[in-house]
Amino acid sequence: MPRLICLDGDSAGHETTANMLTWTFYELARPENASVLRTLQEEIDREIFSSSDKNTRVQIGPDSAQQLARCTYMDAVCSESLRRHPVIPGIGRAAGQPVTIAGRRFPKGISESTLMAEH
Ligand code: HEM
Repeated sequence: MPRLICLDGDSAGHETTANMLTWTFYELARPENASVLRTLQEEIDREIFSSSDKNTRVQIGPDSAQQLARCTYMDAVCSESLRRHPVIPGIGRAAGQPVTIAGRRFPKGISESTLMAEH
């Protein structure tokens, strides 16, 4: 149980998110990405802040998920950040039993790894 808590606290969702955000802010701070930052800021102003409360804090509320879902440019920025700087560049698996994939048979124990740019 303590090991599970450790995994949850340190890996699942915590380090990954922090790492991804760090790279994203790094990319947004680069002079060549100034127009990306501007477009993103405009989307956030439009979709998250209403014009009347631009200077107030964002409140997490019932509408938050819908507001974020409308931020398609932010979604693209995050995807591109993960593509350029994959937080988890690959994952590995080993077959627990013989398996047939696309007509090919693989023995128990065979391992594979997948390189990935994002998930
Ligand atoms: C940018 C952020 C994230 C990245 C890059 C990321 C990446 C990944 C990857 C590659 C896996 C598959 C690992 C494997 O199958 O071996 C995974 C699984 C998982 N992630 Fe994330 N993750 C992120 C954010 C989060 C967040 C925020 C949470 C929780 C709030 C989370 C919870 C989990 C859990 C529970 C699994 C296991 C799912 C399963 O067993 O099927 N992740 N993540």
